[in-house]
Parts: sequence; C-alpha cells; structure tokens
Amino acid sequence: RPTPPEYGRPVGFTPVGDNGLDSVVVPNGYDWSVTIAWGDPVEDGAPEFDFDNQSVDAQLRQFGYNADFVAVLPLDRNFDRAVLWVNHEYTNDELMFRGWPGPEAADPELLRISMAAHGGSVVELERVGDTGEWKPATRGRRRYNRRVHTNTEFRLTGAAAGSEHVRTGADPDGTTVLGTLNNCAGGVTPWGTILSGEENFHQYFGATADVTDSATVERYNRYGIRTSAGTGRGWERADERFDVANEPNEPNRFGWVVEVDPYDPDSTPRKHTALGRFKHEGANVNIAADGRAVAYMGDDERFDYVYKFVSRKKYRDGNSKRDREHNMTLLEDGDLYVAKFTGNSPEFPGNPPADGLFDGTGEWLPLVKDGESMVDGMTVDEVLVFTRLAADKLGPTKMDRPEDVEPHPVTGTVYIALTNNNRRTPGQIDEPNPRPDNKFGHVMGIDEDGADAAATSFTWHIVLLAGDPENPDTYYGGFDKSQVSQISCPDNVAFDPAGRLWLATDGMSGSLGPNDGMFVMPVEGEDTGHLRRFLSVPVGAECCGPFITPDGRTALMAVQHPGDGDGASPDSPLSTFPYGGQPRPSVVTVWRTVPDEDGYIGD
Ligand code: FEO
Ligand code: CA
Ligand code: CA
Ligand code: CA
Repeated sequence: RPTPPEYGRPVGFTPVGDNGLDSVVVPNGYDWSVTIAWGDPVEDGAPEFDFDNQSVDAQLRQFGYNADFVAVLPLDRNFDRAVLWVNHEYTNDELMFRGWPGPEAADPELLRISMAAHGGSVVELERVGDTGEWKPATRGRRRYNRRVHTNTEFRLTGAAAGSEHVRTGADPDGTTVLGTLNNCAGGVTPWGTILSGEENFHQYFGATADVTDSATVERYNRYGIRTSAGTGRGWERADERFDVANEPNEPNRFGWVVEVDPYDPDSTPRKHTALGRFKHEGANVNIAADGRAVAYMGDDERFDYVYKFVSRKKYRDGNSKRDREHNMTLLEDGDLYVAKFTGNSPEFPGNPPADGLFDGTGEWLPLVKDGESMVDGMTVDEVLVFTRLAADKLGPTKMDRPEDVEPHPVTGTVYIALTNNNRRTPGQIDEPNPRPDNKFGHVMGIDEDGADAAATSFTWHIVLLAGDPENPDTYYGGFDKSQVSQISCPDNVAFDPAGRLWLATDGMSGSLGPNDGMFVMPVEGEDTGHLRRFLSVPVGAECCGPFITPDGRTALMAVQHPGDGDGASPDSPLSTFPYGGQPRPSVVTVWRTVPDEDGYIGD
C-alpha cells in the first residue's frame, strides 16, 4: 500500500472545462462510479429502490435524498474497509413523486416518505481490488449500516438541554428530540465521530394559527420561522409537532450541531447546545495549544456570522476506549464566540486596497464564557437557543453567507467559504466582504494569533475572489489569472494529505457556466492560487462533500438535486442521472486510473 502523497506536492491534472452535460466529468487519467444513490438499500431487509412503489417503511431503511456532506472513516489497518457517512439535507418532493400536488394537498403518507428521506446514512464500504474505487460492502454482515431520520432519537447536551425553551408536550424534560433536519455540511472529529450541521430547519414548520406572543415572533423572525397561519412543507399535516401553533418550542430543538458515532449503530446521536443555535452549515474541529477542542462554524444566511466554540475540557490524544469516551464529551461544555473582522486599509473601498490585499485583524467576541452569559439581558440558555439574537447585540461582522469553515490540518489556517450575497449594496461593502451584489463569492483564511486555535484574536486575508478571471474584481491568490479555471459560489471545503484546498460549488450553474463542480487550489508555495477544475456534476445538481481519503487515493462527492430546475417533474425529467431513469441524488467515488507509482488524487 503506498504511503500518502508528500506534503506540498503540486497539482498535475489537466482541468475539465464547461460542458453542460448530464453526467459527472473528470480529468483524463481518472474514472468515477456511483457509490450509492437515493433509494438504495442501507439497513438489513431494505427493499431495492422502486420509484413508483415508494413507502415509508422502505425509505426508513434506504439511502435518503439530497446527499450533502460525505466522509469516509477507516475500519481496518489496511484501509480496505471503511464506513461512509452521508447527510441527507432535504427533499425535492416535486421530483420524488409523480403528480406531486403540493404541500397543502399531498397525501400525508407522501409527506412521511419525505421525512424518512431526511437525516443521514452510515454505509459500510469496501475497496474494489487495489484501486481507489469504493463500493458498498457485499462481504460480511454490514453491521455498521444505519439510517438516521426524522424519527431517530437524539439527546440534547449542554447548558440549554432541559431549559424551558426546548421543552414540549412530548418531551417535558427537554432532553430528547426526534430527528435531525436539513443536515448540510459537517466534519470528522479527531476522535472519529461525525459532526453535522442543521441548516434551513425553519422550512419544516407550519402554523395552523397566527403566532401572537411578541417574544416568540421576534425570535421566529430572526430565524425565518413562519408566524402567520400557513404551511411550508406540509409536515404539520403529518405530524402535529411541526405545527408551531400547537408546539411553539419544537423549532428550538433544531438548528444545532449534531454528533454521530458511525462506529456504533446503536448509539444515541446528540445535539450540542453549547455550540449555539443558528443555520449551521457544519462544524470542523482543531485542537488548541493547551489541548482544548475548538469547533469552527458558519451560519449560512446573507449577513450572518462566523462562530467558534472552545471546549472546557482537554482532548486526550490516545486510542483507548476511555480516551474516546472522554473526547466524545468535549462538545458538551465550553465557551462560544462570534467573529468581528476589521480591515487594515482605511482608504477602502478601492480595488485592490492601497496595501494590495484584502486583509486585516479580527476578534472573537465572547457570547458564553466560563459558564456565564456575556450578553446583556440574556441568560446562558437564551444565548445558546437564540444565538443569532445574542450575537446581534455584540456587533460582529455581517458576512456574505458563511458556509464551510474548516482548519487546514497542518497550518491551522481556517478557511471560510463565503458563497455569495446578492443583497449587499455598495454602501454595505467592507474589506472582508468587498464586493456589492456578490454573485460569485469568496474564500477567506484566518490565522489565529500565536497559531493557537483558542486565541481570542486573529489576522485574516482573502485568498479567492471568485468569478470570471478576466474580470478585474477577481483575485486568485495572486496567481496568473490567465492560467486558472473559473469558479463561482464556493460552498464546501476540504483538504487532501498534500495540504491542497478543495472546493465544491453551489450556484456556479446559473452564475458562471452550466455546471457546478469540484476544484483544487494550492494554498502554499509557488502554486498558491493556481485553481483547477477537477470535476463537474450533472445539469441541475450542486456539488457537495467533497472528501479526499486520508491515503490520498480517492475523492468522494455528492451529486445533490440532479435535474432540479423550472418545470422539472418525474414526467419531464431534466436529468436522468445516474441510471437513465428518474434523477437520483448520489454519492460518487473518483479515482486515478493511470497506473503510475502512486495514483494520488490531484496529481
Ligand atoms: Fe446547505 Fe449552506 O448550504
Ligand atoms: Ca452547503
Ligand atoms: Ca488590506
Ligand atoms: Ca468540509
């Protein structure tokens, strides 16, 4: 088995171009296959997918819809067996069901199938021969396989667990929540668990009567939860806990970072209130100089914030069962901060600023510290459950939709994907968000002071201003823009063992070219900013994940909502990906076929 690629290795492949195809396209010398698709069996006894004979019972045991975050964790020393975790963010009901009549009229049975298609999947994988390709395991018992869905029991942890804001009729203790919703991006912790962000949870709540309590209305408004009678997804017609007129605290039980142990199919996943409640894109952990665990997080909405959590207890760098059990408690207690960015070019705006860089300093403003609220007039419970309203009082920087926020595994630089913001006006630009009507997005790096993830101050710099490289308001890490691939709407971030930054896009299709895709950009050395397009996804789809395996031989990503678009329906599909019938969201594995000495992804 080859060792992982050496750090700092240059990129070598010839980038793929725009194509408009209803297919995954990869560079010469690479191949791809569908690893698993919506409806494929996951748990024992699950039936094969049958588009025209769907049922709740089948979907509860089959792979869910709209695959998003993807991670692969090893199961053996040779890395020939692994567990795959996949988020199922949401459903396109109009593509799932023939003759979908809309949320007000849909048969509650269809709504329950939709609910069952949310959540996540654990799927045991095995390597195909000695290649970089992976397939669902056929040998052995597949004992790790598991579906997590809208009725899976979750335990609330942290200071706000049990508080008055999370108690409901069905859960008077406020400690046990059914389900996880709109799981977007995520991360793998150093102790081998999955973190997953509950993002646009507001859409699942309907109201059979207007909400009149003024405090509740203010809180709902800040999170986009409806306050007037009406529906979003129709779910309150299938389960009355999704009716806020009936159960006003149920929305407070979503919008958290959840932690799942993929190695224990019987474990109860947890929702960590200490990490705050907002539209979590995901969470990624680094270890501070003194051993505390630090989780970086984005709140994906126009003009929302970047956050971090610092644990009270310290990480134990060991592999024993006791070490792991200890580490699995780290996210239950600690301090919560929100970021304020200050530019260092007072003459800004100007493109580029007078010092030639979009950069500056920043502070982590405490929301909760040493178990105390740092926000006037709000208790710790309120700060954790209504985190957006608490942060608003501290004056953090309103960002252009913070998506994935992820520390580089070697340098510790924290990369933040800011996907776009079409509502920023010329009067609202600042050095960290320097473009009005930001259609194409940007990527920022922050370096914690003293290279310590627990620091309360940092420096920052923009590493990518996406868009047509011929446009003077773009910036590709200072690299010669005549040699880069164009990119728009960076959303998900990952790193390979050579330290290269990978980006997946959501919204490139429609803003810059026909398809979304996956890109790699070196962030150190002479090749810094030499961004190349590695892959494109089928029409209508966004590209999620991405994930590069620790041995550097495999890239995985999710083809989310293939065929999505105006007028799309099962009777007039805009995509037939991947199998020529109805479009099915899928996870795809990519590997190198050129039989050279190693076969690393990106070379
Ligand atoms: Fe679900 Fe922020 O993308
Ligand atoms: Ca996303
Ligand atoms: Ca500057
Ligand atoms: Ca990521």
